[in-house]
Amino acid sequence: MTAHSAKILVATMNRDKAAEIAAVLGGSGVEIVCLADFPGAMAPEETGATLEDNALLKARAGRAATGLTALADDTGLEVDALDGAPGVFSSRFAGENATYADNCRLLAERLRGVPPAGRGARFRCVVALAFDDGSETTVDGTVAGRIIETARGQGGFGYDPLFEPDGGRLTYAEMSLEEKNRLSHRAVAVRKAAAVLAKRLQEGG
Ligand code: IMP
Repeated sequence: MTAHSAKILVATMNRDKAAEIAAVLGGSGVEIVCLADFPGAMAPEETGATLEDNALLKARAGRAATGLTALADDTGLEVDALDGAPGVFSSRFAGENATYADNCRLLAERLRGVPPAGRGARFRCVVALAFDDGSETTVDGTVAGRIIETARGQGGFGYDPLFEPDGGRLTYAEMSLEEKNRLSHRAVAVRKAAAVLAKRLQEGG
């Protein structure tokens, strides 16, 4: 496989994320495989101190496991009223084995009584690319919005039912995958990564 291979590993075991990423990357001329397609492959522990660290850690591990150019994301929800928490700890906000529902419950509880003006938050997503020639890069995407008081919507995953991005009245969980992918933090970052990939492919002839 060369540095300009058109086969990309999406280095995640999270099928919700893989679906979102594949939908955005699809059509950009790359063949996408997912870590879950490799029996025995495992996602590494997210021990980094920043989203960048964790995205790189996951992309490097994916490249090492498969030899393919690997793309990985790490996302954090930064809530103003919580001084930017849960941030890099978003998946473990309510504890090590917390479910999406546990995390949402705790977030809603922590913000109980906070007035609308104080409920600002943003999703920040960092996407890392670990190329099969050993080079690496990161890009990011941020979407600002607010944490609503009572969860709404059945779609998406994670904190989606509590997050209403600026510019509309729908939570991420009330949007179709297509709608979320038009504007989400991950879509913004993955589109930037797709542009980097396209340039590399072009340079590779
Ligand atoms: P990760 O470390 O990038 O897997 O993401 C950390 C946590 O952030 C996940 O466990 C989810 O709870 C949450 N998260 C990540 N992306 C999204 C999203 O697009 N919507 C809602 N929550 C998300």
